Amino acid sequence: MTVTARAPAKVNVHLGVGSLRADGFHELRTVYLAVSLFDTVTVGPGDGLSVSVTGEGAGGDVPTDRRNLVWQAAELLAAHAGVPADATIAVAKNIPAAAGLAGGSADAAAALVALDELWGTRASRGDLAGLAARLGSDVPFSLAGGVALGSGRGEQLSPVLARRPSHWVLGIAADGLSTPAVYRELDRLRAAGRVADGTDLSSPDAVLGALRDGPPAALGAALSNDLQAPAFSLRPELRRALRAATDAGAVAALVSGSGPTVAALTDDEDAAVRLAAVLAGEGVFRTVRVVHGPVPGARVLS
Ligand code: C5P
Repeated sequence: MTVTARAPAKVNVHLGVGSLRADGFHELRTVYLAVSLFDTVTVGPGDGLSVSVTGEGAGGDVPTDRRNLVWQAAELLAAHAGVPADATIAVAKNIPAAAGLAGGSADAAAALVALDELWGTRASRGDLAGLAARLGSDVPFSLAGGVALGSGRGEQLSPVLARRPSHWVLGIAADGLSTPAVYRELDRLRAAGRVADGTDLSSPDAVLGALRDGPPAALGAALSNDLQAPAFSLRPELRRALRAATDAGAVAALVSGSGPTVAALTDDEDAAVRLAAVLAGEGVFRTVRVVHGPVPGARVLS
């Protein structure tokens, strides 16, 4: 018997980063949007744990040992439920690693729901969310999906109303960026006075209003990401990539999470397909993907 689950990538349509906390994390006020690019995780019986990773998102440096979040997810769920951590876990990656799209978090969330079914552990959604928060700041959102306001280090979620879907082109770079390195660069830029410090967490209200009842132009005008400046600083050519997206007709574009993926907002699905064709032709990105959001979080498929 095997169980397959999938979980979505995310874009932060607002990412306000506060000060560095004593625990090494930054206080966040973020609005997560789950988008239609999915990793799938298939689990089956095993003797101990084994993890395999395939797919174009795998890159080359996705580990298949305890460093992989799906391994840690399995150990956490097994300990929580009091069952042996026995499973084979096959991850099929469409979401590129180290891209600012929460691909590793999606894998962990999909592994939690798949193993819960395989092992018959029947953890509640609340219990799974608690385990997810221990795995990483974005994992609770990968489990929940949809649109949500994240606070704390991003793991505390509250629901957000989005009245209409939004359509995006994701411009994916050849090389990833390390999330901790981008946060460190933000701290460095702040200490040097080159960007505003984190004492005033930027408010998500404009994005929340635009999601509730605005046209794409209102959402585009409200997009913001405090990690964009440090991502530009570490990867100067990202500025040009972002400009390429707006020059080619995007309503607006921003860096997704800690980057380097560029998320370009369009008016509708046709416009997204046209924009993707132009950007693919220009060769600014390694790959482009047309996606929409919101979509549901981690779910068992079969
Ligand atoms: O929670 P997660 O393991 O995904 O975080 C990865 C790293 O990103 C953390 O170790 C920290 O350096 C940085 N981070 C942060 N503040 C957050 C979330 C992540 O500084 N709210």
